[in-house]
Amino acid sequence: MNVLSVTSECAPLVKTGGLADVAGALPHALLSEDVRMRTILPGYRSVMEALGDAREVLTGADVFGGTARILEGTASGLDVFVVDAPHLYDRDGSPYLDAEGRDWEDNPERFAALCRLAARIAAEGAGDWRPDVVHLHDWQAGLTPLYLRGHGPDTPPCVTTIHNVAFHGIASPDKLDRLGLPRELFTPEGYEFYGQISALKAALVYSDKLTTVSPSYARELLSPEFGMGLDGVLRNRASDLYGILNGIDTAAWDPARDPAIPTFKAPRGKAKARARLIEEMGLDPEAPGPLAVVVSRLSGQKGLDLLLEALPALLARGGQLALLGSGDAALEHAFREAAAADPRVAVHIGYDEAMSHRMIAGGDAILVPSRFEPCGLTQLYGLRYGTVPVVALTGGLADTVIPANAAALQAGAATGLQFHPITAPALEGALSQLCDLHSDPDTWGRIQRNAMKHPVGWGPSAAAYAALYKGMARAS
Ligand code: ADP
Ligand code: GLC
Repeated sequence: MNVLSVTSECAPLVKTGGLADVAGALPHALLSEDVRMRTILPGYRSVMEALGDAREVLTGADVFGGTARILEGTASGLDVFVVDAPHLYDRDGSPYLDAEGRDWEDNPERFAALCRLAARIAAEGAGDWRPDVVHLHDWQAGLTPLYLRGHGPDTPPCVTTIHNVAFHGIASPDKLDRLGLPRELFTPEGYEFYGQISALKAALVYSDKLTTVSPSYARELLSPEFGMGLDGVLRNRASDLYGILNGIDTAAWDPARDPAIPTFKAPRGKAKARARLIEEMGLDPEAPGPLAVVVSRLSGQKGLDLLLEALPALLARGGQLALLGSGDAALEHAFREAAAADPRVAVHIGYDEAMSHRMIAGGDAILVPSRFEPCGLTQLYGLRYGTVPVVALTGGLADTVIPANAAALQAGAATGLQFHPITAPALEGALSQLCDLHSDPDTWGRIQRNAMKHPVGWGPSAAAYAALYKGMARAS
C-alpha cells in the first residue's frame, strides 16, 4: 500500500525537533509492513540541495504570488515530493522563523501551499503512483483535508498525527479568500477557532482518523489541562484518536556503532565517553555524584526553569550538569549565568547533532522535566545508552520509563526515575533519589542494564500505523 506523508520537517533533510525524527524514520520503519511511504515537504534550501536526480511531476502551479512545481526524487534515502516554490521557501532562517527569531509573516501561505499541492498529489497521483492514505503531521499539514474536498468525493482518506497540540497554526480570517478556504465551513463546528482560522483544528475536524505520539498523551489531550483549547474538539473525536508511541532510529542511536563517541556495548563501557564529555565540557572528573545531561529546546514546555530552581540540590550532593540547548532567550541567559556561577555546571547554547550524541552517551542521567510531553525522544536515546532518564510523570515520558520505586527495584524492572507533581521541589526529590541510587553501584548498574535492554525501536509502532492505514483504506 502507498501512503503520502505531508510534513514541514523530515530528518535528516530539515529538523527543528522530534517531528522531523519521526517523519524521517517512519518511511524506513514501514517497509517491513509492506507500506511504501512518500513524503511531500517544502523545498527549503537544505532540501533542494539534498535532492538528487529529480523529475518534475507538476509545473506552473500558481501559489500566493509565485509559481511552484513539484519535483519527485530521492533525498538522503527518502522518497520525496518537493514543493519547489522559491518565493516561499528559499530563505535564510529556520522553517518557521526569520533570522531575528520572529515567525515568518507569510507562514499561513507557506504551509497552505504545502497542503494545497499535497492535496493535488493525493487526489491526482504522480505518474502511476497513487496514495491509498494521506498521513498529515501537525498544523503545517492541517489544511490538506479542506483542500482535498475541492477534488471531489473520490479522494484518499486522511490521518493526522498530533505531535504537539500547543501549535494551532492560527491565521487571520482576512486570509480566508487568499488561502482559498471554504467559507461555509468557517464555523465553530468547522475550522474556526475563536474567530481565527486554525489549521490544526481543520485537521482534527476533517481527518478520518487522528493519532498522537503516546497513549498517555492521547488521554491527556481530552482534558482542558492539556488540550490547549482543542480538548472539546478532541473529545468529539475520541473514538477516532489513537496513541501510538514514537520509536527512535536504533541505527543512528546505537552506542556500539555511534561514530560520534568511543563506542560501548554494556554500561561499564560508558566510562570513556563520560570522561571525554567531562573533559570537553570542562567539568570536574573527581566529582563524586552523577553527571546529569540535558539536550533540549529551551521552552516553557520543557520545564527547564524548574531545573534551574532544583539544581542546587544536585550540586550539593556532588552531582554536575551539562546542558545542550537553544530557544527562549531568557532561559538561554539563565543557564549561561548558572554555568558562570558554578564550575560544576556546563552549558552549550546552540543546536549540534554530534554533540547531542556525545552528551547522551557520556551522561549518567538525562533530565526531562517537561510540563507536558507528547512523547519525547531524548529519554529514549538515554535508555539505549544506559543514561538513566529522570522524567516528569506526563505524556510519553510516563509511557517509556519504569520508575525506580520499591516494587520495580525488587522486580528488577526499573529503568529510570519519575517525579510528580511537576514542580521544582518534586524534581529536587528526584535528583536526590538519583544521587542515592547512583551511590549504590550494584543497584545503579542494574538500572542501567535494564535501561539498555528496554525496546525503543519502531517495530510495534510501525505495525500499529500500518494496521491503521490498512483499516482506513478498506473503509474508504
Ligand atoms: P521536541 O520535538 O518537543 O523538541 P523531542 O524529544 O521529541 O522534543 O525531540 C527533540 C529532538 O531534537 C531530539 O532528536 C533531540 O536530540 C534534538 N535536539 C533538541 N535540542 C537539540 C540541540 N540543542 N542540539 C541537538 N539536538 C537537539
Ligand atoms: C513534538 C513533541 C515531542 C514529540 C515530538 C515527535 O515536538 O513535543 O514530545 O516526541 O513531537 O512526535
